[in-house]
Amino acid sequence: MPSILGIGADIVKRARIESAIKRWGRRFTDRIFTPREQTYCFKFRDPSLHLAGRFAVKEALFKALGTGWSRGVAWKEIETTNAPSGRPQVAVTGRVKALLKEQGGGEIFVTISHDTDYSIGQVMITRSSSRRATPSPRPLPRRGGEGKKKARR
Ligand SMILES: CC(C)(COP(=O)(O)OP(=O)(O)OC[C@H]1O[C@@H](n2cnc3c(N)ncnc32)[C@H](O)[C@@H]1OP(=O)(O)O)[C@@H](O)C(=O)NCCC(=O)NCCS
Repeated sequence: MPSILGIGADIVKRARIESAIKRWGRRFTDRIFTPREQTYCFKFRDPSLHLAGRFAVKEALFKALGTGWSRGVAWKEIETTNAPSGRPQVAVTGRVKALLKEQGGGEIFVTISHDTDYSIGQVMITRSSSRRATPSPRPLPRRGGEGKKKARR
């Protein structure tokens, strides 16, 4: 059974995304979200809530990796899409994919939830099955015959 490399969660205020869109428009959305993410979110009456969920997933993934946001990565290298059932799934590319490999990461699991003003994203990463599991420590040699059956007095 795969073990867990890390988990991460983040909460994002919808209004933060909304004001960034008002201020920067597509310069903001195009820098942070992939075309597929934008197409999905802008179908909704309140796109910023769904964009906030995807932003939370991006931050949560860095926490799960244990690296934090690192230099050289692009936000769009983390993409959340939805299966026909609505279930979210995450794919990584570029530098983030390389970081995942470096850390020994395997599968990425994600969940998103929204309320009126906030969205949360939670991510869990399993360890890659191709990476050898850390060997369990060898038992220490016993000292001075300890462990031998004690002679009956
Ligand atoms: C999944 C479900 C429990 C979500 O609960 P909710 O309280 O309405 O909404 P929340 O704000 O907590 O969660 C919304 C998120 O749930 C996730 N979600 C949606 N469907 C999901 C599913 N089948 N499995 C797992 N996660 C799902 C999505 O990521 C969604 O956010 P997003 O649209 O921004 O990606 C609810 O919608 C449900 O029971 N759906 C049943 C499946 C369904 O009706 N599918 C319709 C298409 S076939």
